[in-house]
Amino acid sequence: MNNTPQRYTITAALPYTNGPIHIGHLAGVYVPADIYARYLRMQGNDVAFVCGSDEHGVPITIKAKKEGVSPQDIVDKYDGIIKKSFEDFGVSFNNYSRTSAKVHHDTASAFFKKMYEAGKFVEETTQQLYDEKAGQFLADRFVTGTCPKCGNEEAYGDQCESCGTSLNATDLINPKSAITGEVPTLKETRHWFLPLDQYQEWLDEWIVKGHAHDWKSNVHGQVKSWLNDGLRARAVTRDLDWGIPVPVEGGEGKVLYVWFDAPIGYISSTKEWAEREGKDWEPYWKDENTKLIHFIGKDNIVFHCIIFPTMLKAHGEYILPENVPANEFLNLEGKKLSTSKNWAVWLHEYLEEFPNQQDVLRYVLTANAPEAKDNDFTWKDFQARNNNELVAIFGNFINRVIVLTNKYYSGIVPKPNNYTEVDEQTIAELKAYPAVIASSIEKYRFREAQGELMNLARLGNKYLADEEPWKLIKTDEERVKTIMYVALQIASALATLSEPFLPFTSAKLQKMLNFTDAESKLSAKEHSQWDKIATRDSLLPAGHQIDKAQLLFSKIEDAQIQQQLDKLEATKTANAAENKAVEPQKKTATFEDFTKMDLRVGTIIEAHKMPKTKKLMVIKVDTGLDQRTVVSGIAEHYKAEEIIGKKVTVLANLAPRKLRGVESQGMILMTENAAGKLVFVNPDEDGVEPGTTIN
Ligand code: 2FM
Ligand code: ZN
Repeated sequence: MNNTPQRYTITAALPYTNGPIHIGHLAGVYVPADIYARYLRMQGNDVAFVCGSDEHGVPITIKAKKEGVSPQDIVDKYDGIIKKSFEDFGVSFNNYSRTSAKVHHDTASAFFKKMYEAGKFVEETTQQLYDEKAGQFLADRFVTGTCPKCGNEEAYGDQCESCGTSLNATDLINPKSAITGEVPTLKETRHWFLPLDQYQEWLDEWIVKGHAHDWKSNVHGQVKSWLNDGLRARAVTRDLDWGIPVPVEGGEGKVLYVWFDAPIGYISSTKEWAEREGKDWEPYWKDENTKLIHFIGKDNIVFHCIIFPTMLKAHGEYILPENVPANEFLNLEGKKLSTSKNWAVWLHEYLEEFPNQQDVLRYVLTANAPEAKDNDFTWKDFQARNNNELVAIFGNFINRVIVLTNKYYSGIVPKPNNYTEVDEQTIAELKAYPAVIASSIEKYRFREAQGELMNLARLGNKYLADEEPWKLIKTDEERVKTIMYVALQIASALATLSEPFLPFTSAKLQKMLNFTDAESKLSAKEHSQWDKIATRDSLLPAGHQIDKAQLLFSKIEDAQIQQQLDKLEATKTANAAENKAVEPQKKTATFEDFTKMDLRVGTIIEAHKMPKTKKLMVIKVDTGLDQRTVVSGIAEHYKAEEIIGKKVTVLANLAPRKLRGVESQGMILMTENAAGKLVFVNPDEDGVEPGTTIN
């Protein structure tokens, strides 16, 4: 544990205000950042934890155009939703700003100007993509095309989301305007470029060699691969009308590139906070002793590890990040989260649908944090972790301790007698936890840290289950006093150590244990000091009065989970209906062609999945003519036992063909419903739309 107070600037990626916050953002960035900031504050450090809305950039203009409103309307709407949901979720930002704020426009303009005056940019006239129909240049997300690196046909003009490569719009193969769909032409325009190539060697020394061991391997690896590919100069201005005007001669009608202004937003947010608090912002960004940590998702690595540090270095007055603990992505029920496809659990909706259960979501997201690889959120896991871990372990232990203390001693912490070996051992284990949890947090292993917190709750549960005070109370009242005293010390440690992970639970528990009681020998502040757990004899002294029990967690029922699954199913159906283009009609078939097909009603009499395949099912059908084998690609949609006995339409005279060594003697006619599920031909079946082909 780090015991010397230290100044920290903790930043969490500024969310784009083109949609609300979802669980992917939370798991990737905001929950880990909040755990870290809360932990550091508890250790007595001086922490500025800053964030704000990222309100510039092309996606916002595109959304505004689509909805027929102004970009300002869009950012106002989402800034409001995002800010409130963070507050309600308990993210402990010291400041949440927005990049449309005057302080930010001023800060970003001054930053650019200083670099410009110091000759840090390269000014160049180049050919850029231009949409003749829309009468505008196509930068960043205004243009899509094929990624030259991985072949993804939906890469954007600034980045390919498939392989993560950062691109210039002119790199795209077959570019297409996102505004009109037109193929762009090339037109000359003058811009300012950040010559990243000139910083390549420095970046190599600083990150690849200098941070080989203390930065996460996913981050270090990505940086290394970019440097291996060789860095190129990157334009930091754009021909757009939404953004921060380029503040130098020749900049008329141009704005700063969103990724130039956004990270400067961290500085502006710190300034806004310092001004409000009557502090000086500069040490948080300019003092070499300050530790600057950026929490981001993996798609932001290049910007925070290469571009922004180069800007800070070129500017000359700023410190560089000490670490950039980027996370991988979280998926939802096995599929990539997507704002535009509404494939998400939205924070503001969760807060309404699961009132006062912020900590459950925090807990599940940390337990499944995509720290080293992409991970999956499922509602079943959410329910299981709540019911089997939070309720059954943490909640159960606390409830027993508080209820029994109230029952046996009217809520007054009893005076212990001599410790047994088990007591000694339990206390020793308890005292080791603060250092174990701290060490994991300091290594950005929040999942592991939270796992240890639960192990402490498990220790408490086991101790009570083994010692059985509820039985002993009839025969050995003195022994029960010691047991309850030890259990109360564990509860007290949990109240403190859970604060970074489960802040609402920690506050409730601190209240139950009456940490704020003026008569308690220790002040609330002392109670919540991490290190004291290991060094103090007693966390909750004998004679201290605790409060009544209240429920920390409650069981989540199947119906609640089903509701969430139904909501996702409805999204799937809506998306499938939207995406489904009706296939054009095939060439005319003559009546004679039609009569060539021998269609029969058949009954499925046997079925089994073909081993070592995902999709194939081997089916035996009674066609009336015979019993024959048909191999059908439906194994992902049906279980064998579901289809036995079903009447189906069989194309009986289809030429036999072998599939994975099994001869298929015909075809069972299927179609697809709007949710993408293959169903047996029955046009009346739910979700089968006109125009769907049968094959
Ligand atoms: O990826 C995003 O959502 C960006 N808006 C993150 C910006 S982080 C920063 F640099 F401001
Ligand atoms: Zn790519």
